[in-house]
Amino acid sequence: MKNANLLFLLLYLQQVTTDLRNDNCCYWMVSKGYDLPEFSERRVLNEVTVYYHDSSLKSKMPCPDWINTTAGIREWGQIQYWSNHNRFVGTLGLQSAINQFNLTGTLTDRNIYQGFGCCSLYPNGTYSAFLNHAFNGKDFTSFDINSKTFVAAVPQAVVYKTLRESDQSTINDVASYYQKTCLDRLKILMEAPRVRAKRIPDVRILEPKKKVGSVTVTCHVTGFYPREVQVFWLGSDLQPVDEGVTEILPNDDGTYQTRKSVIVPEEDVGKQNYSCVVLHISIPNNITKVWEVKAGGVAVWIPLLCISLLASVIGIGVWWRCKTRDAVI
Ligand SMILES: *[C@@H]1O[C@H](CO)[C@@H](O)[C@H](O)[C@H]1NC(C)=O
Ligand SMILES: *[C@@H]1O[C@H](CO)[C@@H](O)[C@H](O)[C@H]1NC(C)=O
Ligand SMILES: *[C@@H]1O[C@H](CO)[C@@H](O)[C@H](O)[C@H]1NC(C)=O
Ligand SMILES: *[C@@H]1O[C@H](CO)[C@@H](O)[C@H](O)[C@H]1NC(C)=O
Ligand SMILES: *[C@@H]1O[C@H](CO)[C@@H](O)[C@H](O)[C@H]1NC(C)=O
Repeated sequence: MKNANLLFLLLYLQQVTTDLRNDNCCYWMVSKGYDLPEFSERRVLNEVTVYYHDSSLKSKMPCPDWINTTAGIREWGQIQYWSNHNRFVGTLGLQSAINQFNLTGTLTDRNIYQGFGCCSLYPNGTYSAFLNHAFNGKDFTSFDINSKTFVAAVPQAVVYKTLRESDQSTINDVASYYQKTCLDRLKILMEAPRVRAKRIPDVRILEPKKKVGSVTVTCHVTGFYPREVQVFWLGSDLQPVDEGVTEILPNDDGTYQTRKSVIVPEEDVGKQNYSCVVLHISIPNNITKVWEVKAGGVAVWIPLLCISLLASVIGIGVWWRCKTRDAVI
């Protein structure tokens, strides 16, 4: 029974906390009629923008100093090379979509074609990747990595799908990028200190708050970067506070903080230890802080005594008022 409760609580808490994963993402865009560069591209690794290029710039971004390994420099060359590819297929998509939606001829027309591709590695070893294209903010097509085909989200995308699939050698390269290269690049670039500039969380258990029949205990986690973190309590018969929602707040120094509270039934206090477990990308395993309670501590009873005293005082007051009101009526 107790184990079932614990399992439920764990699943529940994990569901509401942010995923702890590594991401390698690329966003690009081809636009017409807007006051934007015709093409722009941004690559983001774990929330850090590592590469930017747009058509108003004379040359591609050179390999930055913080990438100084042979493998890293080679990956950078690939990033620059694929930037041309993205511009080419994006322009193709924009033209095809404009034609298929019959939007040609109007000079005032504004259109945007976007690509968004990502690969992610989860702490449990699961790897996932996707590539989606959108036209004017709506799904246009997505790439099925396993079958190496484009899936049209709207009938107007079928022409583009056929066009792209006719170049089988490029399609194979795109598929192999999302199947493997994207993850390899993620691992290689993660070696660089700039992307790795993570801050380890400081974990403390705050002074518990006692109420009638229960004790609320809070785990405070601060000073970590990046933002994603998982905090949960281990122990039986625990109830989450505030529906278990974890709010992550920024600190002044660019790091983040959060807290997680649970309610422990009073009869369990002192019978077992409860621990706060923190998972963060800056640490290989976890940080576990144990809340050790001494059984039968006087400290628990003092506030209870005060509360019951207060209750009786209020009780007398209410009784007195009712009494006097009765007398008036
Ligand atoms: C790469 O850069 C880091 C920090 O910027 C430095 O500590 C390291 O020595 C450099 N490695 C090489 C091979 O230059
Ligand atoms: C575009 O025009 C063609 C020919 O006039 C028509 O068959 C097609 O349905 C139109 N498509 C849209 C999305 O309006
Ligand atoms: C790994 O974690 C991800 C994200 O939390 C989840 O979607 C996936 O199902 C998990 N895979 C396994 C094998 O547990
Ligand atoms: C709590 O942990 C302490 C030290 O880790 C241990 O001595 C104690 O027996 C534990 N209490 C319970 C109830 O498990
Ligand atoms: C925390 O890490 C330790 C190893 O350092 C491991 O034994 C334990 O199972 C981990 N706990 C959780 C809840 O992941």
